[in-house]
Amino acid sequence: MHEVMWTDGTEDAGGAGGSVVSSRSGVSSGNGRAQEPLSRSARRKNEHLALARKFYDAEARNDFDEVHLIRRTLPGTTVSADSIRTEFFGVPVAAPFFINAMTGGSSKSAEINAALARVAARHHIAMALGSANIVSREPEALATFSVAREENPDGALLVNVNPTTPLDTVKLLVRELKPAAVQVHVNAVQELVMPEGDRDFQWLRHIANIAENVEVPVIVKEVGFGFDEHSLELLLDAGIRIVDVAGAGGTNFARIENSRRSARDFDYLDGIGLSTVKSLFNARRVNRRQGHSAPLTVIASGGVRNPLDVIKSLALGAKFVGVSNGFLQVLRTQGEEALDEAVTRWVDHVAGLTALYGARSLNEIRDVHYYLGTDLVSYLEQTGPHAAQLL
Ligand SMILES: Cc1cc2nc3c(=O)[nH]c(=O)nc-3n(C[C@H](O)[C@H](O)[C@H](O)COP(=O)(O)O)c2cc1C
Repeated sequence: MHEVMWTDGTEDAGGAGGSVVSSRSGVSSGNGRAQEPLSRSARRKNEHLALARKFYDAEARNDFDEVHLIRRTLPGTTVSADSIRTEFFGVPVAAPFFINAMTGGSSKSAEINAALARVAARHHIAMALGSANIVSREPEALATFSVAREENPDGALLVNVNPTTPLDTVKLLVRELKPAAVQVHVNAVQELVMPEGDRDFQWLRHIANIAENVEVPVIVKEVGFGFDEHSLELLLDAGIRIVDVAGAGGTNFARIENSRRSARDFDYLDGIGLSTVKSLFNARRVNRRQGHSAPLTVIASGGVRNPLDVIKSLALGAKFVGVSNGFLQVLRTQGEEALDEAVTRWVDHVAGLTALYGARSLNEIRDVHYYLGTDLVSYLEQTGPHAAQLL
């Protein structure tokens, strides 16, 4: 087995706690180690990796703690690995959780993608690559993504682009990487706070264009700020049928981007996201209104910390559940073998919890009853059909 372990997450950030926007040459980090010359996008990716590590808090509480599943004392089930096997957009997988989008573009990202892909292959779980928009400007960056396909020739891979990635690039990525689906990330908060971010958020037309012109399913995905009902309806109207709500509660890109700004002037946006749990309720309402005609397939991600959060996501209507920084930090701080052990444990626990909550299959988890903490109840009341009388 290849062993990939990183002992210092900040060496590549130009000082993740310092002002990094002003030093973009990327040639020297001052640690005496030879560095590749990095483009702006590749350097940003390395800064994100370092800051995601710096801010990671495995213990942080989030809205999943306010969802209390009700367990049957007599579940009447047997634990079985078969109960959680499923298909991830046509590819058989051993579990409904997957490694969500993170890296690509730099040589460090390539090492990470290779290691994540080996873990995904060994455990038969799906994996999303980080944004490959960089390939439109730097075609040689393709190798930092295709390494994942080389390590995992038959597994479920997802390609990730942004709404304005040129269609030719998206098609090239689909041809070369043979993904099960393409994720298009929408990240208005991140772009606004990102020092060099986009200021044009008119994305719907571009998203529809990608969906109409690629031959694999298209998933529209946030990056940690969640989805409101109206945006979900706009996506449905535009022909999109799969959404990864990627809500708040885990990695916080407002915080990450703010710390890349010399003035740190967006610190007040830390709490701007809609949580994953609230976003799942939003998706469920939209699907209820929609009836049975072409509902959204919903993916949960953002702040999924443990196998119980996976079960809660499924109980709230998700079909798949993405985990990003939690898995990345196991890899970066403890190495590939530790991530293997973690994924083995997650598969075992998800199967165990499925039986514990009385379900014989992933679909039956949707029938698990639960009650909610007061903030969630208040959110549902204030955004529900009777909100007008309340506000
Ligand atoms: C280092 C890092 C890089 C990321 N890069 C991307 C990306 O390129 N595209 C994307 O859609 N999401 C990206 N994300 C966001 C994740 O896919 C996910 O939506 C978010 O981190 C919330 O999940 P988590 O709380 O499990 O980390 C990135 C996350 C991390 C930690």
